[in-house]
Amino acid sequence: MNDKQRVAVQAAKLVRDGMLVGLGTGSTANYFIDALAQRHAEEHLQIQTVSSSVVSAIKAQSSGLPLLALEQVSRIDVYVDGADEVTADMTLLKGRGADLVREKLLAAAGREFWVLIDQSKQVEHIGQNFPVAIEVMPFAWRMVQRSLSEMGAAVKLRANAGGDGLAVSSYGSLILDAVFDPELSARDINDRLNGMPGIVEHGIFLGLATAVFCGHAGKVTQQSVSGFLPESG
Ligand code: A5P
Repeated sequence: MNDKQRVAVQAAKLVRDGMLVGLGTGSTANYFIDALAQRHAEEHLQIQTVSSSVVSAIKAQSSGLPLLALEQVSRIDVYVDGADEVTADMTLLKGRGADLVREKLLAAAGREFWVLIDQSKQVEHIGQNFPVAIEVMPFAWRMVQRSLSEMGAAVKLRANAGGDGLAVSSYGSLILDAVFDPELSARDINDRLNGMPGIVEHGIFLGLATAVFCGHAGKVTQQSVSGFLPESG
């Protein structure tokens, strides 16, 4: 079992009967869906799920998990997802998968938001390893690019995986990848992006995570808003 799988199994053990669980997107979220589906099948766990992306919805359905549409949901018990970067104060960078609108909606709709990572995701500051993904209305990308450049950011329009077109989110947005001055705090960048016309959503998740499960060398460390909990194997 690798570290991502281990944190996913640990988090799935904490799900209880009656919960409505938000499913994230990515390789770690996939391990969580597998572990949850296994408990659902073997222990007859009474849960419902809602997905942050089409790909996770397909996986959940084919694993036998009961799935609600996003439109049917106003509040969820817990959202469980991976992240690209996590700082010590549990600020996250997400968005390599580009489905930021649904991901942030579910993270904010959760009474809890559990973040599943391995140690490679822990960083000193947001933007250390990856650019900040910014979903923009397609007709607004040049104006947003200019505004970001005026903040001192280096900005690229994201290409699709094949490199023969543009990346498009499930919401129909284009994606700008922005590298900011490391002196700018995640809060400063978050606040500026939240107020910038043309931006649909961005990858800084600030004040949303309630617990971070980090896998390293066969152990899982759990940090929550109330502090660190003991390691478990
Ligand atoms: C999805 O858009 C992303 O935010 C992922 O949650 C993030 O990239 C983590 O992915 P992995 O779990 O595959 O590392």
